[in-house]
Amino acid sequence: MPDVGRAQPPRVREVHGGKSEGVSQGEVLPGAAPLVEGRPSLPRLREAAAGCRRCHLWERGTQTVFGEGRARASVLLVGEQPGNEEDLAGRPFVGPAGRVLDEGLDAAGIDRAQAYVTNAVKHFKWEPRGKRRIHQKPNWTEMTACRPWLEAELAVVKPEIVVALGATAAQTLLGRSFRVTKQRGVVVESELHPRVVATVHPSSILRAPDADARRAALEDFVADLRVVAGLLR
Ligand code: URA
Ligand code: SF4
Repeated sequence: MPDVGRAQPPRVREVHGGKSEGVSQGEVLPGAAPLVEGRPSLPRLREAAAGCRRCHLWERGTQTVFGEGRARASVLLVGEQPGNEEDLAGRPFVGPAGRVLDEGLDAAGIDRAQAYVTNAVKHFKWEPRGKRRIHQKPNWTEMTACRPWLEAELAVVKPEIVVALGATAAQTLLGRSFRVTKQRGVVVESELHPRVVATVHPSSILRAPDADARRAALEDFVADLRVVAGLLR
């Protein structure tokens, strides 16, 4: 008779959705080519993403802003989408939001040079207002179209921990019903990665109504990033 051993209690844990159904890097996407030929690497993914037409946003942005950082980073940070400066520079988080991010990481003791930084959506979505290009929030269709690139980055980098910066990143990783306001600064499991910590987007700190509010928002942001730093030790 087979020894069935002691019955294990079911492991109850909350797993938040987000994974693209049936899509992983190297697989053929319905109606589309595989993301890359052969074994995915960051340079191959970056090159392939440069020609991405998975959603209409490629027409509006200057270029695909792919993630950058260490190939084997222990922490992978996910923003929303490139902003005006990132769109022009072709690099994530190099504008005002990037400076707040750097400030937060620094205060929490996380070295950005040791991290990998990317966005949930890799083209800048904007509308004209006079001569300015005003940021528009990506919608669910655009987030879903772009998610395989993030999945591929996660598969190559294999970070110990993923940080979702703001609602767009959090919902891409953790599903549409995830609320940063309710579940920030705690480790949650995503279908895309076992350890995700969500926090606010650095731009929200810049939008604080006055200096006191800004200081408080930055402190809360740093507190969330310290949770991440604590997990890395
Ligand atoms: N905001 C983001 O979410 N990502 C960037 O790269 C820049 C600003
Ligand atoms: Fe491709 Fe993402 Fe750009 Fe859409 S936003 S075209 S999915 S890289």
